[in-house]
Amino acid sequence: MPAADHQHELELTIQTFDKCAQQYCDKFESYKPYIESYEKFAALFTPRHRRVLEAACGPGLFCRLLWQQIPKLDIKGFDLAPAMVNLARANCPDAQFAVMDCRDLDQLDGRFDVIIGAFCFSLPESG
Ligand SMILES: C[S@@+](CC[C@H](N)C(=O)[O-])C[C@H]1O[C@@H](n2cnc3c(N)ncnc32)[C@H](O)[C@@H]1O
Repeated sequence: MPAADHQHELELTIQTFDKCAQQYCDKFESYKPYIESYEKFAALFTPRHRRVLEAACGPGLFCRLLWQQIPKLDIKGFDLAPAMVNLARANCPDAQFAVMDCRDLDQLDGRFDVIIGAFCFSLPESG
């Protein structure tokens, strides 16, 4: 894909998720199947799962749920959309959040016991 098209797509993605950040948060924080799937994942944690990274964390709903269930965790998260990151900071003030692209993951310092990236990665369309 030409660089200008790529940049345009990136900006469009950021604008879209920024625009719907609050709506996304409001919808999914009480959406049972979503909460239940994260609760099942959180139940798999053991004491050796201490350092957690959530890629494309959105409004930080999973980070909040995790932190409420296991308050001693060291949680970091990042997302491409600044409005999502702002909500994540408000929803989970004890975690650390940054605006970052998943594709820059190699620039992130630190070691993690658990890395989650839910509803972020997608395959390019074929054809
Ligand atoms: C459907 S939401 C999922 C949010 C969160 N993982 C959850 O489970 O609620 C998708 C998120 O991916 C983020 N996103 C999309 N492309 C991204 C990228 N390249 N790097 C980081 N975040 C990205 C969006 O801003 C959005 O917050």
